[in-house]
Amino acid sequence: MELTLDRKSPFEVQADALIVLEFEEQSSLPKGYEPMREAGELKGKLKEFALLHHVPGYKAHRILVAGAGMKKSFHSSDLRTVIAASVRFLKARHLGKASLVLPEDLSTPEHVSAASEGAILGDFECDRLKSDHAEDTPLASFHIVVDGGGDDLEAGLKRGRILAESQNFARALGNEPANLLTPTILADRAQAMARETGLGFEVLDEARMRELGMGALLGVSQGSAEPPAMIVLRYEPKHPAAGKPKLGLVGKGVTFDTGGISIKPADKMDQMKFDMCGAAAVIGAMRAIALLEPSIPVIGVCPSVENMLGPKAQRPGDIVTSLSGKTIEVLNTDAEGRLILADALTYAQQLGCTHLVDAATLTGAVVVALGHHHTGMFSTDDALLERWKHATESEGEPMWRLPLGAEYREQLKSGYADMGNIGGRDGGAITAAMFLKEFAGETPWIHLDIAGTAWNEKSKPHMAEGGTGVLVRSFVTLAVNWRD
Ligand code: BES
Ligand code: MN
Ligand code: ZN
Repeated sequence: MELTLDRKSPFEVQADALIVLEFEEQSSLPKGYEPMREAGELKGKLKEFALLHHVPGYKAHRILVAGAGMKKSFHSSDLRTVIAASVRFLKARHLGKASLVLPEDLSTPEHVSAASEGAILGDFECDRLKSDHAEDTPLASFHIVVDGGGDDLEAGLKRGRILAESQNFARALGNEPANLLTPTILADRAQAMARETGLGFEVLDEARMRELGMGALLGVSQGSAEPPAMIVLRYEPKHPAAGKPKLGLVGKGVTFDTGGISIKPADKMDQMKFDMCGAAAVIGAMRAIALLEPSIPVIGVCPSVENMLGPKAQRPGDIVTSLSGKTIEVLNTDAEGRLILADALTYAQQLGCTHLVDAATLTGAVVVALGHHHTGMFSTDDALLERWKHATESEGEPMWRLPLGAEYREQLKSGYADMGNIGGRDGGAITAAMFLKEFAGETPWIHLDIAGTAWNEKSKPHMAEGGTGVLVRSFVTLAVNWRD
């Protein structure tokens, strides 16, 4: 997609459609169209649209009036959403050349970034494996028209493109079916991306994992014909900042989760191809990090396996020894994410990470607790959590903190090993986090349960169905904005 910043008058813009933002308290309808407001046909509410044809004085063929809500509470995240919805509105009408009039007071790098992101995210469609693409008109061009604004607007454009393309990269990985995205293929995709962007890349194979002693991960993987992969991506800054932080991003990469011997019901099991969305978020974020070059080193660690059942599969009651040395009684083979993350968290610490953030489609319980709008967030470190909250708020990715506490640890007790891998139905998202905490140890750590937010079951006005790429933008912002 052609994406540019144009400094010219809106009247001069040639386009299929020129998008203008319509606020509740401040109308920007072209001259002569005021009666639309007076009649109540338009109120300026978010996601309200009106398409005007042949508006006098404009060279553009159409004006798309896009409701933007209240101006006084308008956040750059709202701009991202409005633009994404506008782009999808236009694509549905086979209009591929769009421009946006960015009002002068919104002509900041932050808003230019958000608008670019909106265009690229709204354009994304998962039709790679459909023979007939006729339904989807890709956006050919998106021009952001500004009347003033500083020289720093170009940087906003660049940032927005990198962030959104990286998020779409993660979304596309999430949408791949499990037959076409095995742990080996996921590693290949990460490697190809690393080659393009200059990241360091390494993958631990099964033999190496056995040598190191990653018994928790290997127990999950042993039921599958597909070999596991521990994917490691490394970003090193050219001019490292003072202090010695090394950020570790850890992502659950279960390419398919049948549940194993503790098999899942058939209904909606197809959705379990999404169980690698934590890994996809980490790989997508590492892409953007490579291109935006923050001043701290970042390591992405993605344990990837397929959770299958068969003659070699692990049984409920099996006891495995994790890389940390702790023993685990596998009481339910469907609680596999925490098993592979246990070894990945220990490994990330062995690689020298001083701060850990993990992302995982970990529990159905978090979906019961928070639904599909907030990611479940857990942390052992208030300073790290403060940084993280800043990043998520500026990126408009809602999170809700849930507690950790020794009282929940009781539920993980095992009669035969250091701990069991399940804590019962009550507080299921919390006991899963408590399990991970055993392996994060003293290292400042955040756990993000994205089981409810990584997947969009039905398309929304601003987003296609399928993988959402949640956390990519926040991960990148956490790294890029890291200051001592
Ligand atoms: N990948 C699932 C989590 C999941 C379940 C996400 C449903 C979205 C919808 C995870 O591996 C899992 O199966 N968790 C179990 C844990 C239980 C056995 C303690 C769950 O949530 O049911
Ligand atoms: Mn499972
Ligand atoms: Zn799973």
